Amino acid sequence: MTEYLTIRRNIDIISNSEEKAILELNKYFNKDDFFVELKDGLIEIHLNVLDIKFLEELITKISKMNNLRENNILNQIYLIIDSVKSYGIKSGKRLYVNYNAERKVKGRAKKIEDRGMYYYARNNNFSKINNELPIAFENKILCGDSEEILKNLPDNSIDLIFTSPPYNFGLQYENSEDGIDWNKYFDKLFKIFYQCIRVLKYGGRIIVNVQPLYSDYIPIHHIISNYFMENKLIWRSEILWEKHNYNAKYTAWGSWKSPSNPYLKYTWEYLEVFSKGTLKHEGSSENIDISDEEFKKWVYAKWEIAPERNMNAFQHPAMFPEKLVERILKLFSFENDIILDPFNGVGTTTKMAKQLGRRFLGIDVSEEYTSKAIERLNNEIDNKAKKNDGKKTHLKEENIVPIVPKFV
Ligand SMILES: C[S@@+](CC[C@H](N)C(=O)[O-])C[C@H]1O[C@@H](n2cnc3c(N)ncnc32)[C@H](O)[C@@H]1O
Repeated sequence: MTEYLTIRRNIDIISNSEEKAILELNKYFNKDDFFVELKDGLIEIHLNVLDIKFLEELITKISKMNNLRENNILNQIYLIIDSVKSYGIKSGKRLYVNYNAERKVKGRAKKIEDRGMYYYARNNNFSKINNELPIAFENKILCGDSEEILKNLPDNSIDLIFTSPPYNFGLQYENSEDGIDWNKYFDKLFKIFYQCIRVLKYGGRIIVNVQPLYSDYIPIHHIISNYFMENKLIWRSEILWEKHNYNAKYTAWGSWKSPSNPYLKYTWEYLEVFSKGTLKHEGSSENIDISDEEFKKWVYAKWEIAPERNMNAFQHPAMFPEKLVERILKLFSFENDIILDPFNGVGTTTKMAKQLGRRFLGIDVSEEYTSKAIERLNNEIDNKAKKNDGKKTHLKEENIVPIVPKFV
């Protein structure tokens, strides 16, 4: 016998054409999947498997054909169904019954325990006591070498780190060499990441955006992930940032149409996501700002976001698009959390942190980029103030940030 999730609602009087429309709706579905019944002043919706997009289109079509009023019974049925938030997904359809039942794997919990979930990050020495970030570092954009500046921060004082280091591709940065010996590159990078791990709170997250240098056969994303795992962080996910970037510099010429040495092309980058100590990050439900729709969409780990188009205006060769930062902040942090970007560039992370009500610290070795990051932040402060009371504020808030002397 088919099992359903059945929803019952009282209904007011419905017209004959609405009744007819319900019968017509049912005709489009297999009764084992979905059907609607009217029973003594009640409507019963029986859900098993449903393509919600198809339902929405169908309802629009049937409503039009039957000249139904705007908020008709079919639209109400759709809203009731769409408000059900617990379901599985299979082949694009929503599964409402037994979607989380154990199927192929029997005794799943025991097997997970036997295998040892994130075994490589066990036996860590991380303290569970989190500390306040001193006010001197809160809502600041600083200029200097991250390794040196971060040494001044207490352990366990940052909620989330989102960053993109130089990839060592040979890009023209204003004040740092890009394209150096790989051993030297990783040596410096890991000194900075060591500090990042230290300052991250217990339960905090670090998310690193990288693109391997395919032409050098260096899988930076794996090397960085190994570093974090060796240092006992939990690898919690890998997001594929699909940029649809077809301008890959290297073509397959030279190995054209021959298995001798084919060269593959990529249109995406990676975001490697780690947690310190535990997967759970504590926060108040009042400080959640992600919407239902955003959450449902963004937990699928392939994100199609266009690259930043405005890099010329900022004279920076490798900026985050704002949408990417927005997703990371809303999905992995709470409002008022402290966000760090140790390679802050022209300050996309700090600007978006401000816009989304997070506290922040951004660091970059270039004075030029740091000034631009500060300017962007101040524009954001101004825009926010304009939206709030229609007045332009003076840039005299506590968020005005000094450029501190370089430590390098
Ligand atoms: C890929 S870019 C980051 C861009 C940034 N996500 C944005 O949206 O503008 C890397 C940045 O790291 C900075 N950098 C390089 N070495 C550094 C160091 N030792 N400490 C701090 N920043 C450094 C560079 O100046 C560059 O702006």
